[in-house]
Amino acid sequence: MAAGFDGVEIHGANGYLLEQFIKDGANQRTDAYGGTIENRARLLLEVVAAVAAEIGADRTGVRISPVSPANGISSSDPQPQYDYIAGQLSALGIVYLHVVEGATGGPRDVAPFDYDALRRRFRQTYLANNGYDLELATARLNEGKADLFAFGRAFISNPDLVKRLKTGAPLAQPDFATLYGGGAAGYTDYPSITA
Ligand SMILES: Cc1cc2nc3c(=O)[nH]c(=O)nc-3n(C[C@H](O)[C@H](O)[C@H](O)COP(=O)(O)O)c2cc1C
Repeated sequence: MAAGFDGVEIHGANGYLLEQFIKDGANQRTDAYGGTIENRARLLLEVVAAVAAEIGADRTGVRISPVSPANGISSSDPQPQYDYIAGQLSALGIVYLHVVEGATGGPRDVAPFDYDALRRRFRQTYLANNGYDLELATARLNEGKADLFAFGRAFISNPDLVKRLKTGAPLAQPDFATLYGGGAAGYTDYPSITA
């Protein structure tokens, strides 16, 4: 925040530390941070409360991925687990809930999950991610199923993504050979349509 950012996104997704506590495929603790749905959510909620106390809940967002197998993490009870988390985060008043729907970077229907039910438990902004294009995002927006959409891969290969979406210009596809490491090639050299 001191460097001028508008807020902080707490990463509770994709097999990182907080998700390792949330999902019972990884969490085998027998103390207050393991076992029940409430216990497995405890570390996430404590971290969120601490960050919100420091910078304000209106500047604190959280990213989750209820059914994503990213980094080898699994859960036997994603729906009740994340319904509980969404309700608790709603009560904490955080500004948005960022949800990776399905397998991160993979199929959206990797496992059954009711994202509409999740959203109903969270009163603030619902930010959807994973496999969105203009058509799907527009449909979900018009159905009232989400408020905002995060684009990943499309932004890498289209530095002017917003302009292209506004004008209906075709999108460039990312070169997967240059993703995940290496140098600037494949990250800073995709042309803008207007360049
Ligand atoms: C090159 C690359 C690197 C990524 N790195 C991360 C990461 O460090 N942490 C993370 O949570 N997600 C990461 N992701 C996943 C994206 O944040 C996003 O969830 C995913 O690409 C799905 O969105 P999309 O369909 O719009 O691309 C990465 C994706 C790509 C393509």
